[in-house]
Amino acid sequence: MLRAGGLVALPTETVYGLGANAEDPTAVSRIFQVKGRPPTHPLIVHIGGAEHLGDWVQDVPATARLLAERFWPGPLTLVLRRGQRVPLEATGGLETVAVRVPDHPVALALLSAFDGGVTAPSANRFGSVSPTTADHVRAELGDAVDFVLDGGPCEVGVESTIVDATGEIPSILRPGGVTREDLEAVLGCPLAVPSTSRVRVPGQHPSHYAPRARVVLVEPEKVVAEAELAQKLGHQVGVLLPAAFADATVKAHAVVTLPRSTALYARGLYGFLRELDQRGCDLIVASLPVEEGLGLAIANRLRRAAGPRSTV
Ligand code: TXA
Ligand code: MG
Repeated sequence: MLRAGGLVALPTETVYGLGANAEDPTAVSRIFQVKGRPPTHPLIVHIGGAEHLGDWVQDVPATARLLAERFWPGPLTLVLRRGQRVPLEATGGLETVAVRVPDHPVALALLSAFDGGVTAPSANRFGSVSPTTADHVRAELGDAVDFVLDGGPCEVGVESTIVDATGEIPSILRPGGVTREDLEAVLGCPLAVPSTSRVRVPGQHPSHYAPRARVVLVEPEKVVAEAELAQKLGHQVGVLLPAAFADATVKAHAVVTLPRSTALYARGLYGFLRELDQRGCDLIVASLPVEEGLGLAIANRLRRAAGPRSTV
């Protein structure tokens, strides 16, 4: 199907991707149509192994090579200078390209059999919650996708960490499954954090990763009171209850008690948001986790889920 220009949803360790042959501009353009995504938002090219990196990019700094060797296959995406094989449709017109090797046996088997690159954004409609099961993909995209490869639920649950690796000192463009602490330990130097990075990242809109329900963020100790107040005012309130308050009884429409482990929180995050939508909530009350390790990626997604939404 990939060779014939089709769209194939595939499991990765982070979230499900909507895949197309990276070298087929028509198939790549279909991804944008199906997602409703602006054509200037660049895609990630998935490859079967670090040894293929040179086929897709030019000028790989030693630091980028080190990160690829250490973290691939895994939830790390490297932005490097675009190689000739990558059509501009895949990069949104940029002269850089994002590349990663996913750590999922089904994705790796597909990439190995296909023997090429697969561009794959998260398999959701533009701006909404990323899918972490094959059922999420079917519910979200239905017949718009030619085939859904079911590889079970995603282990990591939030997207890959995107690193600008074009320069001497890499910087994080989007926090994700590989933590800043892990990257810095391997590089032996501090990285720029997303908020201080000056590189423009297309596709990082204030509202992203958003469920249908409006999301409000409050301090952890205020979650219960805020939820009960909004419920009293007539909202159907969904609560992401911090583990520290698991014993509280909350008078709200639906309550998800969050796991104590950030790995389990990240794995469950998008499923929890989908569940609260499904249970008919119009407002979700949540708080940010401590922003270290995977907590940085979770907080990034929650802030965007709570971000101002465009009315167009
Ligand atoms: O874990 C993941 O990264 C998942 C799985 C399927 O691999 N993919 C994913 O793709 O999250 P997507 O399209 O939802 O997000 C990719 C983001 C874009 O929004 C954009 O911000 C960034 O990657 N990106 C891609 N190419 C870039 C480039 N050349 N320069 C800067 N940012 C880039
Ligand atoms: Mg996405």
